[in-house]
Amino acid sequence: MGTQEIFENTRKLLEKHNQGHLLAFWEQLSDQQKEAFLGQVVALDFARLEDYWPNLARNGVSATVGGDFTAAPSYGPVPADAEQRDKYARARNVGAELISAGKVAAFVVAGGQATRLGFDGPKGNFPISPVKNKTLFQIFAEFIAATGEKYHTVCPWYIMTSPLNHTDTREIFEANDYYGLDGKNVFMFQQGTLPNFDFEGKILLATKDRIACSPDGHGGSLTALYRSGAIEDMKKRGIEYVSYFQVDNPLLNIFDPLFVGLHVLDGAEMSSKALLKTGPKERVGNFCLVDGKVTVIEYSDLPDELAQKRNADGSLVFELGSIALHIINTSFIEKLNSEAGLSLPLHRAVKKIPHINDRGELVAPAEPNGIKLESFVFDALPLASNSLILQTLRSEEFAPVKNATGVDNAETARKMIAARAAAWLETAGVPLPRKPDGSADCTIEIAPSFALEKDDVKAKLDRLPDIKPKDNVYLS
Ligand code: UTP
Repeated sequence: MGTQEIFENTRKLLEKHNQGHLLAFWEQLSDQQKEAFLGQVVALDFARLEDYWPNLARNGVSATVGGDFTAAPSYGPVPADAEQRDKYARARNVGAELISAGKVAAFVVAGGQATRLGFDGPKGNFPISPVKNKTLFQIFAEFIAATGEKYHTVCPWYIMTSPLNHTDTREIFEANDYYGLDGKNVFMFQQGTLPNFDFEGKILLATKDRIACSPDGHGGSLTALYRSGAIEDMKKRGIEYVSYFQVDNPLLNIFDPLFVGLHVLDGAEMSSKALLKTGPKERVGNFCLVDGKVTVIEYSDLPDELAQKRNADGSLVFELGSIALHIINTSFIEKLNSEAGLSLPLHRAVKKIPHINDRGELVAPAEPNGIKLESFVFDALPLASNSLILQTLRSEEFAPVKNATGVDNAETARKMIAARAAAWLETAGVPLPRKPDGSADCTIEIAPSFALEKDDVKAKLDRLPDIKPKDNVYLS
């Protein structure tokens, strides 16, 4: 088919879908631009657009969850009784064996745009550690390297970027020599994108020859892992479990033998870590059972009366918030992709979207002017044959860097990293100088090479310096 014929077909298709305006600047494009532009149009999934535009974006409702909501059961952060103590011990052994056998890989989703943080460049390059100012990427890389040392194995790292930050991310890793990891064990791939709409349902143009698009959400990772060949690579390496995490939480335990072990002992396909919410409307996903299936409902989608509902003892009925840490079976990801393709629900977000107007002039809106659509990884949970939830403690594992100011900002995360380090030392019996309010009067940073979890500290007590008031202490 010649370009003219492709153009005619495309024009008809766009007009049929009320998107004919996308060709407004066609005559002004070079042949090369025309070809690239047609490629973008052809890649649009019109069947899906038809499905989600009238139901989702225009009506202002997000993906809805039907059925009966009840509280989701979970494993506590510590075992509840003797029987559970035994199970946790067994799980730790099973998890440790699987990590040692190289069956667990790290997987970070790093394709987001970090608009709330307002950082220039991939969020993983944000400096965060309290003493050495290490970046998020460096902290994760060191965690992965230290896990390899501890378990005498290689832990490959899969990194999802987006077309908007892929080159920058790759350059950062290269400039930092992969933070000491072997580049062969770091697999980077890009997620897909979805078009941006104005409030009338018209797709926006970023430039005369480019459709305005944004990354298709962290849920896009489940398709991108498959399409990029990452799953194939995992299979070749004998990897059966993926430890999924977000790029903005420097406190997380990427390879937690207890979590891996419980997941496997319970025959789960996709499991989650959770914590007790700070209040009914904390901005985290809520774990519920919907028609008996573990489901996460975004804070904005949980009806108010359910969010506020309390048990007789005063605790929230929906008290478990998601920290976006999952163990996912590679076979589950394969299964999701092989059965008629994966199509997770799309959620809408009203955003400021730069675009060109019908005169071809660039508009940088001061107010939200359009809609971005995203899929969320947790929408795959109800598709799993079994799914468990393990509670963790906020102080141990959750310090997200989301905002420039206010809740979950870089300063709060830095303080939490230092506070956890101080708590680990104290648990191991190390005395620390204290302020009158009881907090540590020193700043401690524990490198992953020193300890990956609390219990690792005990073996290093002979390497500790004397810690005096106001000291900055880095332990590696
Ligand atoms: P957030 O929901 O915090 O979004 O992503 P964000 O894009 O990073 O930040 P804002 O909302 O623009 O301020 C949670 C995690 O999911 C990843 C992010 O990189 C982060 O690790 N993510 C998000 C993707 O990988 N792709 C996406 O399309 C969206």
